Amino acid sequence: MITFLQNVFYLQTKNTSYWFQITKHGHLEQIYYGPKLPIQDPTALIYKRTAQTGSTIAYDAADIYYALDELPLEYSPTGVGDYRFLPSEIQMADGSFVSDFLYDRHEIIDGVISLQSLPTAKATVDESQSLRIELIDALHHVRYELFYTVFFETNVITRKVRVVNLGATPITIHKIMSSQLDLPNRNYQLHTFNGTWAKETHQQIKDIQIGEYSNSSTTGDSSNRANPGILLGEKSATENQGWVYGMNLVYSGNHYSHIELSPHGLLRTSMGINPQQFQWALSANEFFETPEVCLSFSANGFNGLSGNFHHFINHHIIPQHFQEKLRPVVYNNWEATFMDFNQAKLLKLAKQAKNLGAETFVLDDGWFGTRNDDTQGLGDYAVNRKKFPQGLKSFADKLRSTGLEFGLWFEPEMVNPNSQLYKEHPEFAVQLPGKNSVLGRNQLVLDLCQKEVRTYIIENVGKILDETGATFVKWDMNRHIAEAFSATLTNQGEFYHRYMMGLYEVLSQIFGPRPEILLESCSSGGNRFDLGMLCFSPQIWASDDTDPIERLEIQGGLSYLYPPSTISCHVSASPHQQTLRATPLSSRFNVASFGVLGYELDLNLLTPEERKEIKEQITFYKKYRATLQFGKFSRTDTLKSTQKIWQAQGTDQETVAGFFQTKTQASPSYDLLPVSGLAENTFYKMTSKPQRIFIQQFGELIKHVTPVKLNPHGLVINTIAKHYSLTDAKEEYFGTGGLFASGVLLKNQFMGSNYNDQTRLLGDFGSTLYVVSKEEGKEVGQ
Ligand code: DGJ
Repeated sequence: MITFLQNVFYLQTKNTSYWFQITKHGHLEQIYYGPKLPIQDPTALIYKRTAQTGSTIAYDAADIYYALDELPLEYSPTGVGDYRFLPSEIQMADGSFVSDFLYDRHEIIDGVISLQSLPTAKATVDESQSLRIELIDALHHVRYELFYTVFFETNVITRKVRVVNLGATPITIHKIMSSQLDLPNRNYQLHTFNGTWAKETHQQIKDIQIGEYSNSSTTGDSSNRANPGILLGEKSATENQGWVYGMNLVYSGNHYSHIELSPHGLLRTSMGINPQQFQWALSANEFFETPEVCLSFSANGFNGLSGNFHHFINHHIIPQHFQEKLRPVVYNNWEATFMDFNQAKLLKLAKQAKNLGAETFVLDDGWFGTRNDDTQGLGDYAVNRKKFPQGLKSFADKLRSTGLEFGLWFEPEMVNPNSQLYKEHPEFAVQLPGKNSVLGRNQLVLDLCQKEVRTYIIENVGKILDETGATFVKWDMNRHIAEAFSATLTNQGEFYHRYMMGLYEVLSQIFGPRPEILLESCSSGGNRFDLGMLCFSPQIWASDDTDPIERLEIQGGLSYLYPPSTISCHVSASPHQQTLRATPLSSRFNVASFGVLGYELDLNLLTPEERKEIKEQITFYKKYRATLQFGKFSRTDTLKSTQKIWQAQGTDQETVAGFFQTKTQASPSYDLLPVSGLAENTFYKMTSKPQRIFIQQFGELIKHVTPVKLNPHGLVINTIAKHYSLTDAKEEYFGTGGLFASGVLLKNQFMGSNYNDQTRLLGDFGSTLYVVSKEEGKEVGQ
């Protein structure tokens, strides 16, 4: 995996190579990152230095062709002639920001290197190898340690940095990136995943021209505005072809990525903690650790790259106990009740949820203190006795007697000024002395830099989990940090990072001793969908937006960086509470099934036909759950911008493909459904998942097909619709993997002039799932 030969470090994964060398002056020069090459003399790949470039600073008067500004570097020194974005800015004991750190020594270690203060990827000594390089700024007595870990099978290489103050005088870190990667430009585009509440992780694609770009968050969390993960893809790259690089950060706080194309065509990408409002004091012998960056490369397009990340996250990021462990189908009461519930109401929902096939009931916000609306109660843990007269344990027991597991919502990092906790401990809240505090959702943030606050959360959450026997926790966080200040700190520049260290400590202390509890992270939906949280929570609530058409963008965007097993997706009521768009129940399920499935609509309002449909959905999901959660997920390039195709492929090439239409056309042209990854000469059968078409979808057309002319909006039709529905066209196809790869031509969609039971009734927002499985005993003829 890692070889050091004639001053060159060769990092080899299964399909990629990452090489860099120690230059004659002691800097680390990037040589190559791309498709795997056998270890060899890299001279042909190295940037040539045969002429002097104007306006550059020669690093050594005796070597005028050696200018740092023109070199691809692993981690640039500061203030010695590299004028691009620099990875570190440290104010040294002499007051300067100059730091010329040079190679001193290195070691290669089997396995991973963990950090003391932050979560990192995990692996066995057989799966990974690490490299630690020490660079020394001899003048200022500062050591920079660069760490690299190769996760061979997943084609991921992680990087992180530790800075050690070897001198006697304190130094101050103003900026410290986790990684820098300099690549020759190949007409790359930058892909970022941006949004806001209810609109997370929409893919944004930018051409990269000479100049600078950034992707960052300043909200105190990784944010719904800009996910920390980014991609660089060749402009010509497709889902299955072309060079694509990916980077993501194992961190849940303020992040920063900087992308810069130099005038001579070197593309520099840096990633790490956001330097804004960051400052860290390092006394003698102290060290600072950066979060870990995960790098990956694929020559097989975006699916190749996301496949690497999915493999890596499922095996090296999420907690050990949940690796490959099937996730339960959840019923969550939030959208059905909000905070207006009592025990009887919840148990009625629970019985119905169980009957439909759900496995865990998650009691959401509103169970404690005076929390009847979002102005009060956060911070308090005493159960609301009006809602649960016999207490929470008794409710959990009753719930379990219905056959469901008990899950519970918490928002432990927050406090309402109108709460018992705030009355007793106003000093626990993040507030700037002398200033009226700004509120978000009527709440303040608890100061996790304070040990007492961390202890308060650890003890209270732990106690309730033990008392109630909850097996699922939804950990919410519903406001950004502002007016960052902690009375415990002398340097307020440390606040945001210390808050994150505090959060990670709290999560470790609560869930470390209770590894079997499934933690779902949430932050007003997807405000904290990042690798840091995934180290503790195997799944994350992707968005408060459960409209499936919006979810195609949200889940689609997330899929470039995160596997379906981490993406929590619920079927909710239609029209949707976030968009007022009405969508078919089938599409709500079909989209949600490419993730961890749950339901959160009011089950009391379902018609008998809808109940049957949901029951069948959950049965289908459970049958293909391993494939949908842990199979190989990919996106298919489609001919029409109004259609999307996703597929998940599991053991024995069992495949579930989803065909989604966001907008219908009059008299639509044919639809092609290619399925990839099947064995070329093996026979398969493809069948469409049966799904109901509710008769209201036909509007006034219904009166033309019924023998008696009925008012399409009248009582009779509405009553019939509760008990009777049509089925979508049944499709069944046979052929070899090669045939399916070239694409199945599907049956016609509704053409406006005629209906029969062979018609695909997609309309706006329609979709169909197809299952492809092996046909045993069939031989390929010539
Ligand atoms: C925001 C979450 O995203 C919702 O799912 C719900 O849990 C609410 N908070 C509760 O306040």
